[in-house]
Amino acid sequence: MKVEPAAALVGDVAVPGVKSIAHRALLLGAVADGESTIAGFGRSDDTESTIHALRQLGVQIDEESDDRIRVQGVGLRGLRPPGSAIDCGNAGTLIRLLAGILAGQEGEFTLTGDPSLSARPMERIADPLRAMGAEVHTTDGHAPITIVGGALRPISYRLPVASAQVKSCVLLAGLYADHGPTVVVEKGTPTRDHTERMLRAMGTHVESSPREARVWPVERLDPLDVDMAGDFSAAAPFLVAAALLSGSELRVHGVNLNPTRTGLLDVLERMGARISVFNRRSLGGEPAGDVEVRPAELVATEVNGGEVPLLIDELPLVALAATHARGTTRVTGAEELRAKEADRITHVVEGLRALGARITERPDGFEVMGVPHRLRGGRLSAHGDHRLAMLGAVAGLASQEGVDVEDAEAVAISFPGFYELLDSVTRR
Ligand code: S3P
Repeated sequence: MKVEPAAALVGDVAVPGVKSIAHRALLLGAVADGESTIAGFGRSDDTESTIHALRQLGVQIDEESDDRIRVQGVGLRGLRPPGSAIDCGNAGTLIRLLAGILAGQEGEFTLTGDPSLSARPMERIADPLRAMGAEVHTTDGHAPITIVGGALRPISYRLPVASAQVKSCVLLAGLYADHGPTVVVEKGTPTRDHTERMLRAMGTHVESSPREARVWPVERLDPLDVDMAGDFSAAAPFLVAAALLSGSELRVHGVNLNPTRTGLLDVLERMGARISVFNRRSLGGEPAGDVEVRPAELVATEVNGGEVPLLIDELPLVALAATHARGTTRVTGAEELRAKEADRITHVVEGLRALGARITERPDGFEVMGVPHRLRGGRLSAHGDHRLAMLGAVAGLASQEGVDVEDAEAVAISFPGFYELLDSVTRR
């Protein structure tokens, strides 16, 4: 798909509900006692994968409308082995969190995924689950994963990588342990805490601090009634495009502003973008608000490992912003980007360089020499990765000649209506 250069983004948008929360609400609603309601649900290939996986496990899910879902919980230990592999599609959050829940069920379960998911590291969840007493087999450290659930014991686990998916997997298994607490110690900066917040809303005893999270076993989970705000990671391409295109005046309404997710706002502010947050409120037990971005001449910045968990999914967009910012921007301590849906260091560097950027690959990040000038443009492949497709689209808007995004349809993984919404606020 060719994305032509634009002059500005102008107007008001709202983006689909938080994907991380949608996965968690479906998974936890499935093992709650009774009916859970999820509103503001963002439909995407990833969230469809979770609905499909839970149906395979015997859970009834009613799709009341496009963005309203009801889950008939089967109780804490009510998931049933389907007799065939459970297909997790492209969804890392699904496979890793579901593994934690299945470790506490009776029976044998096999989890598979598409080629991208099957290339991602899974020992990071298999290890702690084995330490809790589950039988877990990976395929050379990858999916397919087979889990034989049963009696679990609590562990105290220091995260070897800063990963909310690993943290959540262990905490969910901790609900099934024979006593408590199960403790997860963060690697450094705390990763997203959607799981802890949701478990608390379901009546679970969870203690958390920036350093660690502790969970105690439960007899039952209360059903959820959750109304989700927009996904910050879905808002991010709009925010960065508005920061880059002079003349922009864009508001994204009802965005989830969980402080473990909003590192991009701090980075853009450091780079000189003008950002205002108003109508701060609480939505579904999480902070939310409306975000307005106005463009400015950007300057380079440094992002190090301490900040990385707070904007892990937005770092490709930071690379693009850096190409427009005067000076040298360095992103370090971000080696986890190589373990995402695609290698988001190599592909960001190669992709942006082909558009005219001066960007260098580092083992744990990248270095960008920016100038306050549009990139030339050209062709960028998403390599099947939704965040790279969105990067290509924003790069196209902010380029001189436009960008041909290869594999553009990958946006459907998290945000099927992305191009239409972007188009609706684009001024050429
Ligand atoms: C997610 C956590 C992050 C993030 C992913 C969603 C989650 O992954 O990149 O898009 O929902 O917990 P890691 O936990 O592997 O860093």
